[in-house]
Amino acid sequence: MAHTHLIVGAGGAIGRAVTEALATREPKSRIFAVARQHQQSFEADNVTAITLESANEEAVLQWTAEQKTCGIVFSTVICTAGVLHGDACGTAVSPEKKIEDISADKLLAYFSVNTVVPAIWLKALVNVLDKERSTIACLSARVGSISDNRLGGWYGYRASKAALNMMLKTAAAEFSRRSKNTVLISYHPGTVDSALSEPFQGNVPEGKLFTPAFTASQLLDFIDKATPENNPHFIDWAHKPVPW
Ligand SMILES: NC(=O)c1ccc[n+]([C@@H]2O[C@H](COP(=O)([O-])OP(=O)(O)OC[C@H]3O[C@@H](n4cnc5c(N)ncnc54)[C@H](OP(=O)(O)O)[C@@H]3O)[C@@H](O)[C@H]2O)c1
Repeated sequence: MAHTHLIVGAGGAIGRAVTEALATREPKSRIFAVARQHQQSFEADNVTAITLESANEEAVLQWTAEQKTCGIVFSTVICTAGVLHGDACGTAVSPEKKIEDISADKLLAYFSVNTVVPAIWLKALVNVLDKERSTIACLSARVGSISDNRLGGWYGYRASKAALNMMLKTAAAEFSRRSKNTVLISYHPGTVDSALSEPFQGNVPEGKLFTPAFTASQLLDFIDKATPENNPHFIDWAHKPVPW
């Protein structure tokens, strides 16, 4: 049976790579590629580009309700939305080096993109998933691990990714009753060559700066084999569990 998949944040480096990889792996499937703006089109015929403001809850709920009305259910959902530096919903953010760098506006901006956007999509999709088997994977980060935090710094990014992990952990309890066959994944992609990581690539060991295509392929391989038992999975690019 042909499946329908959804990529949220398909305009970003990892989002685009995941869209292209899925389109190639499943040429008979249909893929909705959601971005705030589409700078480039997709070559694959089975990709439909959707322009949508993911931080707008009403717009997201309306679009997903329209899909449901058309009888669409999603098999794979990958939400790549995230910000580390630059514009976050109209506020300029950069990772805090020390506690005095914390600002209320910037913290809220980090949470708006890194936690609230994926949470809105979780809410919008809970009743629009393939009942046989579905997956929702959100791009998180190892720095969102509370137990693995040895270096400190990056308050807003770390806290907002930890909060994203908690959203998935909390949703997993509810999905075990309401959507038993949905796999929930919080994915650490490694350090990936993108605009997001660009200012911080200097200290990356040789061979550890991954291409978006590599990390997309690793994520899709994990999705192929993951099961809802032990939801949610917090795993890295090598499919190794990350401590919460
Ligand atoms: N690159 C890395 O080394 C690395 C490491 C760990 C975790 N991650 C995570 O991986 C994810 C993808 O990052 P990337 O490297 O592909 O970076 P990127 O190219 O900068 O992509 C950023 C993504 O975030 C979305 N986004 C940014 N601001 C948004 C906003 N205000 N509202 C809604 N969506 C917004 C973009 O959506 P549009 O398509 O709509 O523009 C895009 O999909 C992020 O969640 C990031 O935290 C990346």
